[in-house]
Amino acid sequence: MTATPLIAVTNLRKSFGTNEVLKGVNFSVNEGENLVILGRSGSGKSVTIKCLVGLIPTDEGEMKVFGTDVAQLSYQELNEIRLRIGFLFQGGALYDSMSVRDNLSFTLKHHSPKLSNEEVQTRILEVLENVGLAESIDKMPSELSGGMVKRTAVARTLIIKPEIILYDEPTAGLDTITSREISDLILAVQKKYKTTSIIITHDMACAKSTGNRIMILKDGVINAAGTYDELEKSSDEWVRSFFI
Ligand SMILES: Nc1ncnc2c1ncn2[C@@H]1O[C@H](COP(=O)(O)OP(=O)(O)O)[C@@H](O)[C@H]1O
Ligand SMILES: [Mg+2]
Repeated sequence: MTATPLIAVTNLRKSFGTNEVLKGVNFSVNEGENLVILGRSGSGKSVTIKCLVGLIPTDEGEMKVFGTDVAQLSYQELNEIRLRIGFLFQGGALYDSMSVRDNLSFTLKHHSPKLSNEEVQTRILEVLENVGLAESIDKMPSELSGGMVKRTAVARTLIIKPEIILYDEPTAGLDTITSREISDLILAVQKKYKTTSIIITHDMACAKSTGNRIMILKDGVINAAGTYDELEKSSDEWVRSFFI
């Protein structure tokens, strides 16, 4: 693993009215690394990654993605960067009226309008095989289990061949075994697609298995950072409280 930061956030600040959510957030993610962000509900985890892809405008700070400060980009330039980033939204739903195949083809055609139909179908099959869902290609979302819906959502994120993937609570609402399967999938994706990822989670098993490094957001700043083993043994009781 090289130590080139693909994402570098410096002094990120964001308020909504009088609600100061991010008060100077600093972190970087190296190429090929999975960084986990922990933090209580409402601590600003989702806001942080939405700022990173320009979905929410920031108040202050620098956010270098692929070496370019996204806060300084025009709409057009930002769109070009976004084409290289996959975003698995919190509770991100599939289109209920479309089959798994059509959900994926919709996303891919939007992303790469010049691909032929044949190429689109090849890419759909390839990605579904990689997430273990090839047999469900013509199912409707209502016929899928919670874990299969999540896999389809991961496939939809992967189909654009992103260099960076942002996962927002990828195992939320899943049972323990299914959560573990999704965590394993996130790890497999990192290896196979050589992606760089930020994973927001409350699920400590997911944090442990997917995160090369973990950081904790508290009171608008990064309160602690390290490996799972380091943080689990932290001298700070509040940090340790996540690991119980
Ligand atoms: N679009 C928005 N407008 C106003 N307030 C927002 C918006 N998005 C998030 N917030 C507020 O920012 C804080 C952090 O939210 P969020 O990042 O979603 O938390 P979490 O760490 O649970 O992901 C919360 O107080 C939330 O109410
Ligand atoms: Mg959130």
